[in-house]
Amino acid sequence: MPLALRPLHPDVGVEVLGCDLSHPLDDEQFQSLLDAYHRHSVVVVRGQSLAAPAQAGLLRRFGTPKISQRKEFHVPGTPEIGRVGNTRHPDGTPSAFLDRYGNLWHSDTASDQHVDGVTMLYCVMTPQVGGDTLFASMGRAYETLPADLKARIDGRTVVHNFNQHNDYLLARNPGSAQPLSEADRAKWPDREHELVQRHPVTGRPLYFISPTLVRGISGYSDEQAQRLSAELVAHATRPEAVYRHKWQVGDLVFWDNRASLHSASPADYQGGQRLMHRGYAYVHYA
Ligand SMILES: [Fe+2]
Repeated sequence: MPLALRPLHPDVGVEVLGCDLSHPLDDEQFQSLLDAYHRHSVVVVRGQSLAAPAQAGLLRRFGTPKISQRKEFHVPGTPEIGRVGNTRHPDGTPSAFLDRYGNLWHSDTASDQHVDGVTMLYCVMTPQVGGDTLFASMGRAYETLPADLKARIDGRTVVHNFNQHNDYLLARNPGSAQPLSEADRAKWPDREHELVQRHPVTGRPLYFISPTLVRGISGYSDEQAQRLSAELVAHATRPEAVYRHKWQVGDLVFWDNRASLHSASPADYQGGQRLMHRGYAYVHYA
């Protein structure tokens, strides 16, 4: 039987109902989960009791998991899943990666050449205050973009670079990111992407831009490119276009990084604890 859906926002996000992910879905159910992911960009499944191996199994049905370099935060025995949050071991050392990179609008995919990627978060602990995640649809953003702005971006390419994002965070808030050595910087080359794209499954046009990684847009000076990037992101993330997810323990949320932007709210949990199990997979379409 196909799964039942409940939209969470007119533009982005859908909740899947009556779904137990602790056992593998049959092919028809997985297909309806995949359809929901393509059509709504962000999928929420509440009330789950999901061991890390089951989450990794679901991730593998989407594509090829990317293993985080932060081995110390892997869930033991399941390297596809990493711990993200502010929890600590009894000796006081962090037991999860406190990700301050995410408190800005971005796509997890923009530092890669391959832009089809699913990020999957499972909520183990959530604070009373803070820790929300915000989402915006880039397909809806393109549809509602004023014609003059559409004309300014059609046929352009955008160059993204992770080093620029890292430098920005360091300059804005020292300590919020790691200074990178030249050897580390070399691991993050420029990535050139089409600014206007069609989703490979739905065919829906969208624009792909991750503002703090933008080094340039073809045909524009650096200053013009930064202004244009800011306009495009401001349009995509205007308050009425944003779905804000307030986490509950047992939520599984996954999103299409080609078709959406997301942002964490500030990582001040006022003494609360947050722990997510995070997976990421490259998705390959024929
Ligand atoms: Fe992110």
